[in-house]
Amino acid sequence: MKQIEIKTLVKECKYDELSETDRRLVDAAKDATVRAYAPYSKYQVGAAILLDNGKIVEGSNQENAAYPSGTCAERTAAFFAASSNPGMAFKKIAVAAWMDPGKDKNPEEGFQDNPASPCGGCRQALMEYENLYGDIEVILYGKDKIFVLPSVKALLPLAFTDF
Ligand code: THU
Repeated sequence: MKQIEIKTLVKECKYDELSETDRRLVDAAKDATVRAYAPYSKYQVGAAILLDNGKIVEGSNQENAAYPSGTCAERTAAFFAASSNPGMAFKKIAVAAWMDPGKDKNPEEGFQDNPASPCGGCRQALMEYENLYGDIEVILYGKDKIFVLPSVKALLPLAFTDF
């Protein structure tokens, strides 16, 4: 049987190594965590999307007492971006996740050490916009390291795209 190898190119870097644009997008994703509504998981996620017109659109997770009715930060940001800027390409998305480190701690410590990575459903939702407008660079923030992927495809090999 023939074998197909699927490779994913992931760049790893530190915040200071990012371009100014990417740092601004990561900062926006980190800021958006403050606006999460996550009383159940206490896991506050922020996402920031850079649109082709230079605008940055943010979203955060919004939970619900009926758990599956809540939404992730990435989908909140994607749907907000698409519904408020129809037809505008998404160029990049940054994601960050925060949990309260406790009082007397620097709030910055609450950010996850490892890159915050979108769930499968959000990868699929973002893929829809990538198919419409072209590759969306993905920047996953972690305090210790940041991952940068060239596209949503890279996060979702063998994706379902049409029927
Ligand atoms: N969450 C996100 O917002 N993005 C992800 O990619 C993973 C999970 C949210 C959903 C829920 O509100 C909380 O994090 C715990 O799963």
